[in-house]
Amino acid sequence: MEKLNILAICGSLRTDSWNKKLLHAAIKLQPEGLTIKEFQGLAEIPPYNQDNDGPASPQPVLQLREEIAKSDGILFVSPEYNFGIPGVLKNAIDWASRPGGKSVLYGKPTAIMGASMGLVGTARMQLSLRQTLTFNNCPCVLQPEVLVGRAQEKFDDEGNFTDEMAGKLIAQLLENFRVLILRMRDDNP
Ligand code: FNR
Repeated sequence: MEKLNILAICGSLRTDSWNKKLLHAAIKLQPEGLTIKEFQGLAEIPPYNQDNDGPASPQPVLQLREEIAKSDGILFVSPEYNFGIPGVLKNAIDWASRPGGKSVLYGKPTAIMGASMGLVGTARMQLSLRQTLTFNNCPCVLQPEVLVGRAQEKFDDEGNFTDEMAGKLIAQLLENFRVLILRMRDDNP
């Protein structure tokens, strides 16, 4: 079976981030046809400034764009900050979205999951991120939603994800992501 390359971007820079742990759980649960690789350079991406945008954009931005270009799809795993997308993640998306309509992000298949310490499990961040992705013509897996609330109760001391039901949803989301990518290819031979 062909392996599709997924670039996973975590919206939290925190060392002990629940979302990083969730991303690692997704890697463990990935279906046979996917290889998920974690993007490591989010902290180095400078604040977006159109004056510095173009072929000579800052090196961390070029790196992000290259990794997105090489990927078959992007998996966003992010907390919700103030009912929205964390600034570091939105900032990276802003860089990746240029030049508008011709960017490496434009039309890229995507999927979203998130973990929060509250009950709602990043629902509002996910809606906002879907809106941002819509502007970039990025198809995004619709169902199932993976909203991990009370994240502090869902991992054991070794960082393993212990919520069996949510684990099934993650596996299904990833399988649906694989199918979405393959379907898009069939539609654009
Ligand atoms: C939060 N948190 C939070 N939680 C939530 O459910 N909705 C929200 O709007 C916010 N807003 C928010 C803003 C800021 C600046 C911080 C630092 C935190 C709490 C958040 O869910 C919690 O800190 C998570 O643990 C963050 O994810 P990571 O870093 O553990 O992946």
